Amino acid sequence: MSSIKRCLITEPRIETLSVKIVKMSTNLPGQSFYVTTPIFYVNDAPHIGHAYTEVAADVLARWHRQRGEDSFLLTGTDEHGEKVLRTAAANKTSAQEWTDKLVHDAWLPLLETIDIDNQDFIRTTEPRHEANVQKFMQKLYDAGFIYQGSFKGAYCVGCEEYKNKADLVDGTGEFEGQDVCAIHSKPVEQLEENNYFFKLSQFEEPLLNFFAENPNFIQPESARNEVVAFVKRGLDDLSISRSKEKFDWGIDIPWDDSHITYVWFDALLNYITAIGYGQDDAEFNKRWPATVQIVGKDILRFHAVIWPAMLMAADIKPPQQIFGHGWLLVGGEKMSKSKLTGIAPNQITDIFGSDAFRYYFMKAIAFGQDGSFSWEDLSARYHSELANGFGNLASRTLAMVRRYFDGVLQAPGQYSDADNQVIEVARTAVVNADRAIDEVAIHEAIAATWTLVDELNNFITVQEPWVLAKDEANRERLATVLYVASEGLRVLSVLLNPVIPKATGKLWAALTEGKLGDLADQRLTESANWDQLVEGTNIGELAVLFPRIETESAQ
Ligand code: MSP
Repeated sequence: MSSIKRCLITEPRIETLSVKIVKMSTNLPGQSFYVTTPIFYVNDAPHIGHAYTEVAADVLARWHRQRGEDSFLLTGTDEHGEKVLRTAAANKTSAQEWTDKLVHDAWLPLLETIDIDNQDFIRTTEPRHEANVQKFMQKLYDAGFIYQGSFKGAYCVGCEEYKNKADLVDGTGEFEGQDVCAIHSKPVEQLEENNYFFKLSQFEEPLLNFFAENPNFIQPESARNEVVAFVKRGLDDLSISRSKEKFDWGIDIPWDDSHITYVWFDALLNYITAIGYGQDDAEFNKRWPATVQIVGKDILRFHAVIWPAMLMAADIKPPQQIFGHGWLLVGGEKMSKSKLTGIAPNQITDIFGSDAFRYYFMKAIAFGQDGSFSWEDLSARYHSELANGFGNLASRTLAMVRRYFDGVLQAPGQYSDADNQVIEVARTAVVNADRAIDEVAIHEAIAATWTLVDELNNFITVQEPWVLAKDEANRERLATVLYVASEGLRVLSVLLNPVIPKATGKLWAALTEGKLGDLADQRLTESANWDQLVEGTNIGELAVLFPRIETESAQ
């Protein structure tokens, strides 16, 4: 993007609807918090839709880590299948070379661009994945859940999915008169192959029972209702192999090397092969079942129907929760590269930085709902909420300690009602934000945190430390006001660390002089315990956390 101005013309503000989200199953003590993102196709470079999922999962993982849990974030790439193979061919290179290039040039750098702290990154072309997919397939085959049959029907390479009549719509323009995929608006292929089938139809009842016994398994509720209705309409067996006569970019079926594994069967298994399925039982048992698997609603059925059925067939527990988030819309449609509406994440981070990217998407869209991205809204929130609301609060508080007390934090005197109110707002903010995270309501956690930002700004306006500073007789009150504001900033550093880690890291360093240990080691649940900052701390200089972005300078 060369200019903010250009972007200012765009979309309406983020639209949100209310949604009822039920609590994520809580972790057992000592068990790991394990969160996953989908693994992304390497047919193209990432756009902000992919980055959105990554950030949401990363905020959850960082939040749980800040609580002191053994938090593990897995992400990665989905590299097999016809779609990737065709893209490689179109780029006149082999599939392996193509995927290596895209992973190293685009998908790993994405994690840097948006500051993702993942514990693992799995590629489906890795031996640890391929070998254990084969073990899993063999297990299902031996248990009688896989049989050979013939498949005749439609397939969309864009979705890598077998399609029913109901999934297709009439083509328009160059595809007039043809059946096209409702998602990609492109013609589907007619396949006629002898394939291996997974007995998905046998899992209709077990799945419905599982959904009933585990009401939080699929969230939000709208997603759950859609999946339950889908399963109730009846499930067909699923073709899980493709004949090598057509193409061979996939994992061999272990008992028949004339077939490769269907790409979705292969891909879903990444969530367990990455944590040791088939080769490290201790690690696997420590992490599985996953606490929450974040996916876009486009791939909800794969995760909420096929995935738990596969696991049940292998006698493995399904994950605790599948959370289907909404879409980023552009012009009212799901943003996508294939429809040329994709925006690269660094178009945003180059101007606003990774913290702003993370904050904006997590705050402006109710997690679980669709939202329209708008440069105008991003810029407005950046300036009003991050620069003026939080950044300015931090810089002026620290600047006043430096100006009025030579940068040395003073012990507070007796707390007034106003001070106690700040302390109470901080306590409530921590409790409410933490509860919201358990409900995977990331936007609510940030909103709860912002009650403290607003309270502190109001506190400073009302207490007028610059007026107190004019009279020596007010020294103790001035010291108390600045101590309370600094303590508030300490709580905010901890609460906001999962969302805007770069800014909070700088603030923490300036505020604590290393006296309270690392920010990462601060327990979120104890953050509102007051009076933690140490008297006599030398408050450091704080560079502007969120500089104003002038329209001219962004051009
Ligand atoms: N490879 C499969 C997933 C396999 S998981 C075992 C796949 N890959 S994908 O590259 O197409 O990524 C789809 C995911 O990207 C969505 O589920 C969502 O997480 C994210 N998004 C892609 N476009 C998006 C939007 N426009 N809005 C929000 N999220 C988006 O499907």
